[in-house]
Amino acid sequence: MPIKRILIDTDPGIDDALAILLALASPEISVEGLSVIHGNCSTEQAYINALSVLHLAHADNIPVARGFELPIAQASLLAPETHGNSGLGYAVLPQPPTRTQARHAQDFLIEQILSAPGEFTIVAIGPLTNLALAMRREPRIIPAIAEIVCMGAAIRHHGNTTPLAEFNVYVDPHAAHIVYHSGARITLVPLDVTYQCILTPADVKRLQKIDSPIPRFIADATRFYMEFHDEYQHIDGCVINDPLALALTFAPGLCDYEEHYVDVDIQGGVSMGKTFADFYKMSKKPANMRVALGVRARDFIELFLERMEKLSTSILA
Ligand code: RIB
Ligand code: CA
Repeated sequence: MPIKRILIDTDPGIDDALAILLALASPEISVEGLSVIHGNCSTEQAYINALSVLHLAHADNIPVARGFELPIAQASLLAPETHGNSGLGYAVLPQPPTRTQARHAQDFLIEQILSAPGEFTIVAIGPLTNLALAMRREPRIIPAIAEIVCMGAAIRHHGNTTPLAEFNVYVDPHAAHIVYHSGARITLVPLDVTYQCILTPADVKRLQKIDSPIPRFIADATRFYMEFHDEYQHIDGCVINDPLALALTFAPGLCDYEEHYVDVDIQGGVSMGKTFADFYKMSKKPANMRVALGVRARDFIELFLERMEKLSTSILA
């Protein structure tokens, strides 16, 4: 299988950080840039966190572009209760090297995508503000994107931010609406599959056998994340949403998919950001994406752990 070129649009964020590490540990893909967005933390903090996680993994060569500070229409909503004020839980990372002035994510995404039409897979694991406004500014990127693998939405599953809405969509539902109806080739990775992917304390403990800053980071970041899941959702462990979406770029067989017409409520009120699939084709509208609705969760967790072990043995200081 040829190496897949990917750009990651991300709001790091603890599970985003694990997704970035998984990408760097996976020879099937080439990470050619990160664009950061508000969500789990501010865009400024997400930028610092992205640089720090890349530095942790000796990947300072990967460009990082800084995105929009606010959603298109909604007020800002961040998630310190879930990811901590730093966005990386209890983890404290070494200062990354300073970089020249970051490109804006809108320019970066447009230039990268148009430089190689049909080549790039966009892994969108945060609110979709950057991608939506890049599409609005330069619609030519839409047919030029090979695929958007999008972590977000809740289809049959309840919301995790309101009873009905998932975080990435709820933070910027108008951006999700633009991307979902853009005509781009989309694989949606909703809570329906990600909430089956629980990283347990025993999984994290297994990684500690390797004397490396990678497992120490994972332990410190996920300890905060697990405390959140225990207190708010009574889960023993933590849901690693974003790494699953990333894994599907090179291991699509981890999930089962159905083609559906999916929409998002932007009317406001109690169902703002609610996403739904037209399972009975009542709207008569054609499918606009394929949706992951089944997952081999422990196979994915095992793959994640094996890749983290491999990365950790290559980074011992
Ligand atoms: O709802 C889960 C998603 O929202 C994940 O991408 C998490 O990092 C947050 O961005
Ligand atoms: Ca995220």
